[in-house]
Amino acid sequence: MTARVALITGAARGIGAATVLRLARQGYAVLAVDRASDDPALPYPMGGADELAAVVRAAREHSPEIGEFVADVRDPAAVADAVAEAENRWGGLDVAVAAAGVIAGGVPLWEVPPDQERAVLEVNLNGVLNLARAAVPALLRRSRPRSGRFLAIASAAATRGLPMLAAYCAAKAGVAGLIHALGVELGDSGVTANAVSPGSTDTPILEESARLYDLSDAAAFAAQQPMRRVLDPDEVAAVLEFLAGPGSSAMTGAVVPVDGGLAL
Ligand SMILES: NC(=O)c1ccc[n+]([C@@H]2O[C@H](COP(=O)([O-])OP(=O)(O)OC[C@H]3O[C@@H](n4cnc5c(N)ncnc54)[C@H](O)[C@@H]3O)[C@@H](O)[C@H]2O)c1
Repeated sequence: MTARVALITGAARGIGAATVLRLARQGYAVLAVDRASDDPALPYPMGGADELAAVVRAAREHSPEIGEFVADVRDPAAVADAVAEAENRWGGLDVAVAAAGVIAGGVPLWEVPPDQERAVLEVNLNGVLNLARAAVPALLRRSRPRSGRFLAIASAAATRGLPMLAAYCAAKAGVAGLIHALGVELGDSGVTANAVSPGSTDTPILEESARLYDLSDAAAFAAQQPMRRVLDPDEVAAVLEFLAGPGSSAMTGAVVPVDGGLAL
């Protein structure tokens, strides 16, 4: 039987990287996609080419069919090329995960530098739309009965008003709305659309959030989460793995909190 094929953006580190590893362990063919370079609009480092290569190496210990692809999710043509690469290599696409994301803020909305605000909206919302535009037709190119999965990462920020992160909240609320509507649009196609909404998870985005809030480090966010700890990226990836697989067949348009109770 041919392995299921997945494409994951934001794959160089954090939740995207943990999801690459989870799906590789399940025997998926995975195309790991990342911009793999810093974003000139943002003051903190993105995942690097060395990190992307390390994730691919680690995943190949579990599945031989792992590839890497450098693309900026803001660029629809680059995202379409990534989807084409997965289809050409492995004959189709079953799972697309939009995990690429960035954060900026730390000052009231009206004081955020416009290029940072644009980066937050364009990567976190347009990046998901760009992946949907390219990947959903590929998921639908599989013959029936399908079990295609379009997955996105929203955030507890989709439903909570987080001060000094207004553009991030707007983008993530947009992702939640997009997933609701896409789930309905895909209807009985056999392709579903779902998202997770993580709480504070131990990745470089959380370190940057700590800097924006003048906190000593990412661990300081544990205090605001009912579980009183930050989450491990693998705990979020575990739910994405479930959503990617057959067990989630009754779910579509769902935005699942994976947040240690943060949104409650
Ligand atoms: N860590 C948290 O606490 C948390 C909470 C809620 C939601 N999220 C969301 O989870 C997702 C993953 O974030 P993370 O925590 O793993 O952060 P991270 O910074 O560790 O990883 C993000 C990855 O996305 C890549 N990326 C950034 N811009 C890109 C672009 N334009 N094109 C392609 N790749 C790009 C980066 O290079 C990096 O490898 C994001 O959507 C984030 O908003 C994270």
